[in-house]
Amino acid sequence: MINEQLQSVQMLGLKLPTDPRWVDLAEKDLTEILTDHAYCEQKAATACISLIQQYSDKEELVAALAPIVTEEWGHFRMVLAELKKRNLQLGKQRKDEYVNALLAFQQKGGGREAALLEKLLTCALIEARSCERFRLLSLHINDVPLRDWYHKFMVAEAGHYVLFIDLAKRYAPEAAVKKRWQEYLAYEADVMKNLALRGDRMH
Ligand SMILES: [Fe+2]
Ligand SMILES: [Fe+2]
Repeated sequence: MINEQLQSVQMLGLKLPTDPRWVDLAEKDLTEILTDHAYCEQKAATACISLIQQYSDKEELVAALAPIVTEEWGHFRMVLAELKKRNLQLGKQRKDEYVNALLAFQQKGGGREAALLEKLLTCALIEARSCERFRLLSLHINDVPLRDWYHKFMVAEAGHYVLFIDLAKRYAPEAAVKKRWQEYLAYEADVMKNLALRGDRMH
């Protein structure tokens, strides 16, 4: 398992693999983890809508993100359907400490283009970490039907991670993207290290 995890984080660039105990914690209460997952998907759709609203002049960005809104909302509906199938109810939205910590790292005051790079890299990072966690669930959750189900999310979020990095390179110099991405990765590893490992959170 450790090897698998290392491969996965290396592929995504992440600096710290998720503690293997997380899957066991997550599957203790599916209502909790599915609820958190549902809101993650909802927030992913919202983030894409905000980017389209704020950068409507960037034709390629709008064209690339418009279908992602639909896809993320589709993911939200997939989670709702899974809850229903299991006679579970969507719970309340929770404070997202992981995302809040990443947002706090965004550099402010650099202007609109610089802000775009910060936003795109934040989205890429959330996709990368989500992908890593979906992968762990798809490999190790005891509920076998859920393995395939999580695998679909893993594949989709890996694609989104690549898309956000590509968009960042489209609108900022590649060297600047690479440098800032490394800073984000190092920061994210620190955030992960300091966050409590919780089975009721996707991150
Ligand atoms: Fe998603
Ligand atoms: Fe995504």
